[in-house]
Amino acid sequence: MATVSFEGTRKAFGAHEVLKGVSLDVADGEFVILVGPSGCGKSTLLRMLAGLEQATGGDIRIDGKSVIGIAPKERDIAMVFQTYALYPHMTVAENMGFSLRLAKAPKAEADQRISAAATLLNLDTLLDRYPKQLSGGQRQRVAMGRAIVRDPKVFLFDEPLSNLDAKLRVQMRAEIKALHQRLRTTSIYVTHDQVEAMTMADRIVVMNGGIIEQVGTPLDLYDSPANLFVAGFIGSPSMNFFDGKLERQDAIVMFRANGGFALPITVEAAGSAREGQAVVYGVRPEHIDFTGSDSSGDFAPVVSVVEPMGSETLILADHPGGKMTVSYRGRGVFNPGDRLPLTIDASRIHLFDRASGRNLRYSGQH
Ligand SMILES: Nc1ncnc2c1ncn2[C@@H]1O[C@H](COP(=O)(O)OP(=O)(O)OP(=O)(O)O)[C@@H](O)[C@H]1O
Ligand SMILES: [Mg+2]
Repeated sequence: MATVSFEGTRKAFGAHEVLKGVSLDVADGEFVILVGPSGCGKSTLLRMLAGLEQATGGDIRIDGKSVIGIAPKERDIAMVFQTYALYPHMTVAENMGFSLRLAKAPKAEADQRISAAATLLNLDTLLDRYPKQLSGGQRQRVAMGRAIVRDPKVFLFDEPLSNLDAKLRVQMRAEIKALHQRLRTTSIYVTHDQVEAMTMADRIVVMNGGIIEQVGTPLDLYDSPANLFVAGFIGSPSMNFFDGKLERQDAIVMFRANGGFALPITVEAAGSAREGQAVVYGVRPEHIDFTGSDSSGDFAPVVSVVEPMGSETLILADHPGGKMTVSYRGRGVFNPGDRLPLTIDASRIHLFDRASGRNLRYSGQH
């Protein structure tokens, strides 16, 4: 077990700077998930912690000690990748024990560790099989077993589930979470599946273009996104955004969409925004309600597509400023072309400064 710190960590490949000063403290035993779009530097950050890439600036510490210049095998870190890279000519037990054999661990101790990891991962009955005789989920479990037998200070996972089908992914993510609850090994996990991040992480780190946009618990990020990027990235389906201006009259604030309609907002959401300031209004699909068909509200998008999900119905609708998604907790009868008079819970909305993307509710605090 260990703490991990990145302190202004930088990485450039030639003139291309891919990490522009990343600072992050991971607590002992914590499960931290890095999310962000392709190319934002997630794998590079993991690889630098593992010692597979050299930082070009800043520091990286494990248990408070800088690991810059320390060889990968001295760092006591185990990494699990998207491609399991099992040795095809070795059995499950031999694959899992390979690193112990390299480290010349006594056979009795190695066997004991392999057996304990196999029990933990439900692989006891498969120890004599070869990788080609295993399902994708079983192979992924062997890859994890190979990391677990080493009893490392830190586990790194780089999109370990992205080769699995959707159902297996859901099952494996629960297994990894349960495993972490048992072992409590400090873990850093990369994914670009935000549902995986929300369901597994103690804290999520949202990265974008080589910087950290925000760090917080899953619900912190969901409830209090610091900026437009995080608001759009966390939550599925994604938050709806409307472009417009803020209107202030004495104590009353309103949002005036470029599409013409007006929506009420709270003084808290508007923060210190000025009259006429260009803003983006954000509301999650699940925070919108129907007023009822007799309503005369002026915000009534027109249904374009209906997606019945069973437990909820997703409605894609057109409004004068663009498109939006509404999540209705039920079935209801909606047809393309229907007008949908909507009400929005003003306490759940967010306003962002158009120019900086900052959430105006918190912009005074940064
Ligand atoms: N060895 C390398 N040489 C040059 N550029 C590299 C090298 N490795 C990575 N990069 C670049 O660094 C950037 C970050 O790559 P990285 O693999 O960390 O992204 P990522 O966030 O893991 O993306 P993905 O979600 O697609 O895996 C990318 O622009 C990539 O092209
Ligand atoms: Mg990657």
